[in-house]
Amino acid sequence: MTSTLASAPAKIILFGEHFVVYNQPIILASINKRMKIECKIEEDKNNTVNIETNHFGKKTFPLSIIESNNHSIVNDFFYPIIYILRKILRYYSEPYGITIKIHSEIPYGVGLGSSAALSVAGVAAISGLNNIVKEKNEILNIAIETERIIHKNSSGADCVVSTYGGLLYYQRTTSINMRSLNLNNELSFIIINTGLKHSTGQLVSIVKRFRENNLPEFHHLSNDVSRICERAVNALEEGNYLHIGKLMNENQTILERIGVSTTEINNIINSSLQYGAIGSKLTGAGGGGCVLSLIHHQDKEYFLANMKKRGYECFPVMIENQGLKVNIKSRNF
Ligand code: MEV
Repeated sequence: MTSTLASAPAKIILFGEHFVVYNQPIILASINKRMKIECKIEEDKNNTVNIETNHFGKKTFPLSIIESNNHSIVNDFFYPIIYILRKILRYYSEPYGITIKIHSEIPYGVGLGSSAALSVAGVAAISGLNNIVKEKNEILNIAIETERIIHKNSSGADCVVSTYGGLLYYQRTTSINMRSLNLNNELSFIIINTGLKHSTGQLVSIVKRFRENNLPEFHHLSNDVSRICERAVNALEEGNYLHIGKLMNENQTILERIGVSTTEINNIINSSLQYGAIGSKLTGAGGGGCVLSLIHHQDKEYFLANMKKRGYECFPVMIENQGLKVNIKSRNF
């Protein structure tokens, strides 16, 4: 029997979402909420794939699902896992059974990178069943391919940060252009969840339409976002809170313009600024999802108490330095 455990973190986007799809830079960070996936392969087992999750219940599939190209499950939450199994275990010769347990601490569908973390941890855990520890870049490539079955134009940024962890500057070019940023100061970020789930794919399509209809303006806005990211690198490394907050607010204005903010997001941002946030913007795809607010340490409790009083679900997040973690155990019976 071989068993593996892999976990990959959620993410926040500080600057540059959507424009990263058009090759502009992005600054994002992994946070202290994880997707944990445990897999077991047993050779005397009953030719089934059992998947158990803490958010979506459980399902059993016949092992033949790995060989068949049955697409009737493409809209299923479980499909990315089946896709990874097909990719990695298709040619495993002995009869066997697989159990996969997915425990997610990441709220689903609200811009915190749950599908990227599922893809990254899923690829790592399932690859481990072959007793092979794949290089992170190999895991990343399959994870991006997997995420693209959920959202076909994914820039790959969420998978990059979930794999490598930390605070990253990333730009999609022909190769992966990524840089770890040093934080000069510990930042207090608060997430406020609108509770409204979104489809990243749909929001990316809204931006695509905006771009097609407003090409010169989109070009300008892209340059602005790129400049915001360059300035933000210095502000983050200098620990200049005020400048970071100001840049977040500027980035939000641009996101509003391209049509991915909503009244609910704008209301949350206004309340955040009223209760002491230095900067506040949507994080991720928008259209619902989450708002990210930057707060002075000393104002955190006051901010949280008042936002909760207004009925908002909010929680502080820490930037986590570690990305993907993998543990493989192998035992012969
Ligand atoms: C979603 O977390 C981030 C987007 O920029 C889409 C992408 O990068 O693929 C909106």
